[in-house]
Amino acid sequence: MQKLPAGFLFGSATSAHQVEGGNHNDWTEWEKTAAARLARSVNSGTHYGQGPTPVWPEIREAAKTEANYISGRAAEHYERYESDLKLAAKLGLTAYRFSVEWARVEPEPGVYDEAAIGHYIAVAKTCREQNQEPFVTLWHFTLPVWAAEMGGWASDTVVERFAAYARRMGEALRPYVSHIATLNEPEVYGVVAYLLGIWPPQRRSPSGFGRVRRGMVQAHRLATHELKLANPAYKVGFCTSQAIFPASDHVQKLINDYFVHRLAGDSDWMGVQYYVKRTLGSSKGALRSDLGWELHPEGHYEVLKRLARYGKPLYVTESGLADAKDRYRAWYIEESLGSIAQATNDGVDCRGYFHWSLLDNFEWHEGFWPKFGLIEVDRDTMERRVRPSAEHYAKLIRQYQPAGAKPR
Ligand code: BGC
Repeated sequence: MQKLPAGFLFGSATSAHQVEGGNHNDWTEWEKTAAARLARSVNSGTHYGQGPTPVWPEIREAAKTEANYISGRAAEHYERYESDLKLAAKLGLTAYRFSVEWARVEPEPGVYDEAAIGHYIAVAKTCREQNQEPFVTLWHFTLPVWAAEMGGWASDTVVERFAAYARRMGEALRPYVSHIATLNEPEVYGVVAYLLGIWPPQRRSPSGFGRVRRGMVQAHRLATHELKLANPAYKVGFCTSQAIFPASDHVQKLINDYFVHRLAGDSDWMGVQYYVKRTLGSSKGALRSDLGWELHPEGHYEVLKRLARYGKPLYVTESGLADAKDRYRAWYIEESLGSIAQATNDGVDCRGYFHWSLLDNFEWHEGFWPKFGLIEVDRDTMERRVRPSAEHYAKLIRQYQPAGAKPR
């Protein structure tokens, strides 16, 4: 077993809309209108252009149900965060990445909700008490309804309001948080919401796509500036989705590079999120997740090497798979950590791994059927059950982490 650097963080990740429950934002509005159509039109076919769902017969019924596409109570993490973080602590996890729901904090433009801000302070504080380094994301795909109505990231006013919200959260979280990510996977959002027209606002508009991407670049820059005013010691970054793709796939390269090229210079660190190996044609015999995505955990090495040339500390802020039966997850985590260890041994400055996800959650337009959790969530009772792969992750952490080593 290769070593990981001292202080390497072993974490898990979630996002507000996917686990909290009880949200009101552009997504909850969209779900109301989209759920019936999604339930009607779902089939065994490709998901984000990947292979067909290998578990279609098992998930068919759930996928054909309208309720699958309504985030609703999600995993009730808003109420249960404390016990969830205790479960994570029991596994020996040393970091937790969560996102703040902008719509809760700023329900009307310029009007802040102190109770909501207090909630996120409490989550960050609980992370500390449970020995997990908090990594906070300020935007993970959802917008307040007013921001969406103003045109989302295409609107200068929304970009400015985001920076002001970042300042507000930066001031509130200062006692407990060192690492903040402005945006989650802006490249995925741009493509899925504004080119493929799958996510709200469901546009297929190359010009809108361009405007929104420029808006997100500006949002990162302005928010970073405001966060540094709130606390010059903050380490501010963003999380990028990186796929592995064939050398001839120039479009994928453009997608992978756009934000990294523009934002790396303004960032103290980068979050790398890797799930997918894209192949041209079918790759026979490849293992696939429940969503049909080809499982290639050794690819962490390649994406980390690729991003290392920007000279910033890296964290794998998401990596995981939909696997309801928990067939591949233990193997996937072990291989992923091995691949990351190989990269760090070859000189890449990677300081942590956050498994996606801590909990089964709401997988956007796919709804609840894909199960990404280290911890299974019963949709009726909300009961939590730790999956065997989570115990395996716990064992790996003990092996990698010399006794008494402190996270940095
Ligand atoms: C997103 C998560 C999502 C995960 C699995 C990432 O693109 O940040 O919100 O659940 O991938 O699809």
